[in-house]
Amino acid sequence: MTNQAQKLAKIVGLQNDRAAVKTKFIAVTSGKGGVGKTTISANLGWLLAQKGHRVGLLDADIGLANLDVMLGVKPEKTILNLMRGECGVEDILMQIDKTLWLIPGESGGDILKFGDQFALERFYEEIKKLDYLDYLVIDTGAGIGESVQTFLAAADETLIVTTPDPAAITDAYAMLKVLSASRKRLLMIMNQTQSEKESEQVFGKIVKVAAKNIPSVELRLLGQLPRDNDVARSVRGRYLFSKTSGGSGARLSAIADKLLEFMERGVLETKEGSGFSGFFKRLLTQF
Ligand SMILES: Nc1ncnc2c1ncn2[C@@H]1O[C@H](COP(=O)(O)OP(=O)(O)OP(=O)(O)O)[C@@H](O)[C@H]1O
Ligand SMILES: [Mg+2]
Repeated sequence: MTNQAQKLAKIVGLQNDRAAVKTKFIAVTSGKGGVGKTTISANLGWLLAQKGHRVGLLDADIGLANLDVMLGVKPEKTILNLMRGECGVEDILMQIDKTLWLIPGESGGDILKFGDQFALERFYEEIKKLDYLDYLVIDTGAGIGESVQTFLAAADETLIVTTPDPAAITDAYAMLKVLSASRKRLLMIMNQTQSEKESEQVFGKIVKVAAKNIPSVELRLLGQLPRDNDVARSVRGRYLFSKTSGGSGARLSAIADKLLEFMERGVLETKEGSGFSGFFKRLLTQF
């Protein structure tokens, strides 16, 4: 191994002889903004890592409350520096926990706009170093805009976050409809609910409308998180609510288990070109 590769191996805690795993790419999105995508991405990433997986978190939605802010770190370099060839993977990765790393991002649009083909060829080689990760959780923006849709189409699994309020449901449904053209299965998390009953009723209504209008898509509710002051406090305080046991942390942990169960069943559509270079080629060579 070269010096640089050794440094990276140390960072990701991998063994020299570990065969590359097939990373699964999970995009977290929503119809309406502000429903809890970033909060859920950060905590879900942490929980997947606690369950023994190597997890990357990619920030593809730079706005007000970014993943780095929620994770309490200050990145100096982002994925764009890597794409331009200004640094190596090991220079942008930020270790959050033993098997959890943040890949600092830029707005999805800026990532997709990057068009220096020569630099990209090198980038596709460099990013392969991350093939040792088991999961990449991507915090995308909200809405049915083109750049968000490109990220969703490139991912293996799409997780739609919504709240039970009517405006969020209307937007989530619009998202479902657009995605149903390219996806057979969509996963959902109902956030900021008042009760489990409310969540199930609202989800039941979505399923009913979807069954009528977009019967080709299988819709699954992974679970619900209540509107919880502890969650809101954790975001303000820049710590992860899932680190404290019980309450919403335990609920999200059960959601993470369900997500793993779905993905490990191997019912994912196999995307052409696996691993990180395949994922970024799908993203950057457009559909
Ligand atoms: N279960 C919850 N209970 C209470 N508050 C919550 C919950 N989930 C999220 N919030 C609050 O909602 C706000 C928005 O959350 P977050 O930033 O994660 O949403 P987002 O979907 O990523 O937003 P954006 O579309 O702007 O990226 C945060 O201030 C957070 O405190
Ligand atoms: Mg966000």
